[in-house]
Amino acid sequence: MRVSIICGSADEEGVTMRMCNSAMELFRSRGHSVELFLPSELSIAHCRDCGSCEHDGCIINDDMSEIYDSFSQADLLILSTPIHFSGPSSILKTVMDRFQPFWGNAELGHPDYCISLMCGGSKQPNFEYTERIIKAFCITTGMEYRGSLQISDTDSGIDDVKERVENFLSAII
Ligand SMILES: Cc1cc2nc3c(=O)[nH]c(=O)nc-3n(C[C@H](O)[C@H](O)[C@H](O)COP(=O)(O)O)c2cc1C
Repeated sequence: MRVSIICGSADEEGVTMRMCNSAMELFRSRGHSVELFLPSELSIAHCRDCGSCEHDGCIINDDMSEIYDSFSQADLLILSTPIHFSGPSSILKTVMDRFQPFWGNAELGHPDYCISLMCGGSKQPNFEYTERIIKAFCITTGMEYRGSLQISDTDSGIDDVKERVENFLSAII
C-alpha cells in the first residue's frame, strides 16, 4: 500500500508531527511505502479560483506538484491537523483548497481512502467542524472517509501519542 501523509502543523515537536511520525513508522514497519509532506516547509500558494483547472489542471507552479503526484498514486491519504479556532490549521486548509482541480473531475487519480489525525489543546476541542470539512474534501476528491483519531487536552501534555496512533490505525487498516 502507498500512503501519503500531510502534516498540518508547523511545530516540528508538536503533537500533530508526533502523530504523523507514529503513523509513518507503523506503516513502514508493516512494509508499506509512505511519503510525509510538511507544507509549512514547502512553497504552496493559495488557490486563486482562476478557473484554469477546469480545463488544464492547476496552473500554479509550486511545491503543490509534489503533493499532487503523491496523491494521485496513493492508496491512503492521512490528513493531520491541530485544531485552530475550532477549525483545521490554515496550513492544511491551504493545501486542501489547492485540490479544486478535483472538483467535478472524477477521472483524476486519487487514494481510495482517507483518515484524519487531529489534536486540540483544550479538554473539549471542537473537532466537529474540522471533520466536516475533511469529509467534504473526501467527497470532492472521490475518497472514502474512514474516520479520525482525536486527541484532546494536548496543552496538559500527552505522552502516549504513539500508542494511540498505533491502536487507532491497527483497528481500521
Ligand atoms: C492559533 C491557535 C488556535 C487554537 N485554537 C484552539 C481551539 O480552538 N481549540 C483547542 O482545543 N485548541 C486550540 N489551540 C491549541 C492547539 O490545538 C494545541 O496546542 C495543539 O496541540 C497544537 O498542535 P501542534 O503542537 O501539533 O501544532 C489553538 C492553538 C493555536 C496556535
